[in-house]
Amino acid sequence: MTKHIGILTSGGDSPGLNAAIRGVGKAASGFYDMQVIGIRDGFRGLVENRTMQLDGTMLSGILTRGGTILGTSRDKPHRMHFNGKRQDMTDVIVENYQAHHLDALVCIGGGGTQKNALQLVEEGLNVITLPKTIDNDVVLTDTTFGFDTALGIATDAIDRLHSTAHSHHRIIVVEIMGHRAGWLALGSGVAGGADVILLPEIPYDIERVAEAIRGRAAGGKPFSIVAVAEGALPKGDAERYQGLRDQKSRVSDKKERKKVKAELASFEAAHANHTVTLSRQLEELTGLESRVTILGYLQRGGTPSAADRLLATRLGTACADLIAEEVFGVMVAARGDLAVPIPLVEVAGNKKLVPPDHPWVVSAKRVGTSFGDS
Ligand code: F6P
Repeated sequence: MTKHIGILTSGGDSPGLNAAIRGVGKAASGFYDMQVIGIRDGFRGLVENRTMQLDGTMLSGILTRGGTILGTSRDKPHRMHFNGKRQDMTDVIVENYQAHHLDALVCIGGGGTQKNALQLVEEGLNVITLPKTIDNDVVLTDTTFGFDTALGIATDAIDRLHSTAHSHHRIIVVEIMGHRAGWLALGSGVAGGADVILLPEIPYDIERVAEAIRGRAAGGKPFSIVAVAEGALPKGDAERYQGLRDQKSRVSDKKERKKVKAELASFEAAHANHTVTLSRQLEELTGLESRVTILGYLQRGGTPSAADRLLATRLGTACADLIAEEVFGVMVAARGDLAVPIPLVEVAGNKKLVPPDHPWVVSAKRVGTSFGDS
């Protein structure tokens, strides 16, 4: 009997999404003779019944394209803005899944998507996921597609910043994405030879950072590249932030929770420009001129690297194999050369952070990179 499958992409876009859609779609329709539809704009498309046929024509010529041909959104099934208010739209999603006679739903996304997917599994849907994000923070997979491309872009940026920092005898503070994980800043910082790398996982002491930069200047190198992850914080602030986050997950009283949420929001707003603040502080503490470069969405856009195309294709085709075997409620993870189904219950709600003694950190310290911690 022909199987009907739906594919959606959810969360921030990431290079390799189209390669994954093509991998699942071509293997499912061409090899397994399944019918494939695309769902537009993540879980919202499933609520609003906005779909498209994913036939051979649609799946052709997309391997190398950035973004996602399906569109994406950060909408969550159970808390979606709909008709002017936030609502639980899970029942509508279940209805529309059935109305399309779907036998499986493929959700391609990062950490948030894995959580949303698990909720739909608990509603009885046959869901299978693929791990994408430039942040590389999804647990139990070696890596996520999008990360390699972003790593290349951020490294190239650091390379370019080096020559201008050198020429002007300046500090350049470059802000790198990653949400609350430091993989992208760490990887590109090591590959690009940043002099200082600041990560959310290793709270820094501004005086230690300044000391490292002054030491370089005293040694005849009056320029420095500081690669700072968007979630990096100085020591005291990091403790306060963690405290608030722990409090939020502990409190059950509605009023108290609202208060903690408001405190968290005001903390985040106060730190929104932390890279600029850091640059200013370094100017004052070192006497060197400092400039800021925020790489932003450049890191997510454009053509996926060869490694991401390969990863997305092999995880995508393995996903079609698993659907044919009726293996659901799993994320297709990369483990060496293999693609392995991992139960979503083990993935959802967890984040892969950089261990402070990770081999990449150790190597960076061996070549003299400062993390502002000692
Ligand atoms: O999840 C990927 C990511 O690129 C993070 O690194 C970043 O914090 C976030 O998305 C910002 O994306 P948006 O503005 O789309 O929410």
